[in-house]
Order: sequence, then C-alpha cells, then structure tokens
Amino acid sequence: MTKTKLAPELVENRFKTGLLNLWYPVLPSWALHDQPLGITRLSQNIAIWRDQDGTVHAIEDRCPHRGARLSLGWNLGDRLACWYHGVEVDGTGKVAAVPAIENCSMEGKHTTKTYPVKEVKDAIFLYFGDETKKDPPELEFPEQLASAEFGHRLCTATWKCNYRYAVDNVMDPMHGAYLHAESHSMAFGDKTAKMRVRNTNTGLVFEKVGQRDINFDWVEIGFSGGMWMLLSIPYRKNAGPGGSFYIVGYVTPLDEEHCQVFFWRCRKVEDWQRDVWKFMYRTRLEGLHWHVLEQDRVVLEDLAPDARDFEGLNAHDVGLTRVRRLMTQMAEQQLSELAAHQAAA
Ligand code: FES
Ligand SMILES: [Fe+2]
Repeated sequence: MTKTKLAPELVENRFKTGLLNLWYPVLPSWALHDQPLGITRLSQNIAIWRDQDGTVHAIEDRCPHRGARLSLGWNLGDRLACWYHGVEVDGTGKVAAVPAIENCSMEGKHTTKTYPVKEVKDAIFLYFGDETKKDPPELEFPEQLASAEFGHRLCTATWKCNYRYAVDNVMDPMHGAYLHAESHSMAFGDKTAKMRVRNTNTGLVFEKVGQRDINFDWVEIGFSGGMWMLLSIPYRKNAGPGGSFYIVGYVTPLDEEHCQVFFWRCRKVEDWQRDVWKFMYRTRLEGLHWHVLEQDRVVLEDLAPDARDFEGLNAHDVGLTRVRRLMTQMAEQQLSELAAHQAAA
C-alpha cells in the first residue's frame, strides 16, 4: 500500500494546535461550579458543566440552531438551554427540546459533538479523539501521581505562549541552575553538565550525567493516555518530611498562542507526615513555587515571536529536539491514519 504524502504545513499545524487522541486536563476541579463555562482547548470551543450529581459534561460550545454559545445559557442539569431561543442540548449531544416550536424536527437529533470526561486528581480531563480513535484509551499516571503513598497538590496557570514552549521548558533541565538560581531548591549543583537521552516504554528520559538529586537533574516524558512530564527536585530538611518532591506536569494548548500548565507537586508522605507537608505547603512552599513558576512564565511569554524559527541549539537541547521529533512523528501518523480512514470511507 502506498503511503499518502502529507503536506509539511499540515503536520506542523497539527503539532502547533495540539496532538489528538490524548486526554488533556482542561480545568482544575475547583473552577467548575453551578454555572456552565465556555472554554477553548486545542482551539476548540467547549461548553462544560456539572449536572445535579456533580458529574461533568462537555460538548461543543455551539447551538445547533444558529450558533450561539451554549455556555452562555442555563444549566438544566443533564442539559444546557441556549440563551438565544431556548434550544436544549444534553450531555450526549442530542437536542432534548425546542420549547419555542411544537414538534420541531430537530428534537431527538444528535447534532453536537461531545467529549469523554474524567474527573481525577482534582482536575477535569477531556479526551480529544479524531474520527479514527473515537474511543478513549486508559488514562494512566506516573506512580508519583497514581500511588496513594504520595500526597499531591495541583497548581495551574495560563501562559501566553504556544504550548510547545512550555513543553520545551520542562524538557530543559539546564535552565534550573540559571533561571531559578536564586530559588529555594535550585541554587545547588554544577552549572555545566553533560546530558544524555534514554528511551523508556512510554517515552524518554533526558538527564545530566553524574549528577542526581542535587538540582533539577533529569526529566521524563511519557505518553500513556495523556502526555505527561515528570521531574524531581531535591528538598532540604527544612522543607518538611519526605525526600525529593516530584512534579508531574501536563501542558494543554488553549489556542495557538496560549496554554494552560497543570503541575502536580507530589511527595512520598503518609499519615501525620502528609498533614505536616500539606500545612507547610500552604503556609510556605506554595508561595515559593509560584515565585519559581513566575520566572518561567516571564521568560516564555517574552521569547522572540519567531523564537522557534531561528535557534542556536546545543547539546543541552537534545531532550527538547528529541521530543519535538517524537511529537512530529505522532502528528504525521495521526494525519496519515485519518487520510486512510477517510479514503476507505
Ligand atoms: S441560537 Fe440557540 S436557540 Fe437559537
Ligand atoms: Fe523552570
């Protein structure tokens, strides 16, 4: 079978707006209450709400009547009612009622795209599948977030940059020793390092050779239902019980120029130690973390507008170049499978 040749702009565009067939965190749980919200993720407008049991539903934010945003309307529990003329669309994407007209032919029709939803680890995840992979895969987390032996706190922020810069930033451990040189946890260790890449079952590890548990020394990226990154930062004794803390990070594209980062801080602490850590986190560490995160945000939001087009990459950037290649290949594969599927149809 001959493989369809894909236009490079098509692949670049898929990579730029976000890979499909993955779960993405779209909101922290605490952001969604009784009112429906209209959000944009992967350049798609989505209406999201909780029903009377608290279960989250997510559908395309577009009324099938004349295109008003459904998220501006009323939450009727299992459905939203459009503000403009009252059409009601439920969580399965079906027009449940058209109160303005008797026996309207639109009633009962599935007009509206829906998104599979999972609410776990204090966040709401949606699955963004294409035509070839409508059914979502399992969403598996790295042990540091999955295991009950770890306590975790979610911290999230919206940054004004394409999501790929946020991914590059995490895949670049060397910036810890410079950008965060004066932080509480990254003031130590060599400012010069040899780096290497190791493949894993779900992705790859990028690490400093011969330096571990001193600074931000390694980072892993994995694809297991969603795309996650994992790193550890050693903690001194005055930061409470438990050893290193881990960060499990997800980056969700909003549109081509904005992204939302979700960072879970995870620490192996149980029982009373978990309470001590949570207390210390709230009273002292959270502020320090925000300070570090702000340093990342400021640099990324002010990168040259064409930063990716003219780069002088060096050996420290091998991690991010490998990830870019991996994600480009995934974009290519998604598009060729889609083209084959459409040709067959
Ligand atoms: S646009 Fe929604 S009911 Fe008319
Ligand atoms: Fe950073």
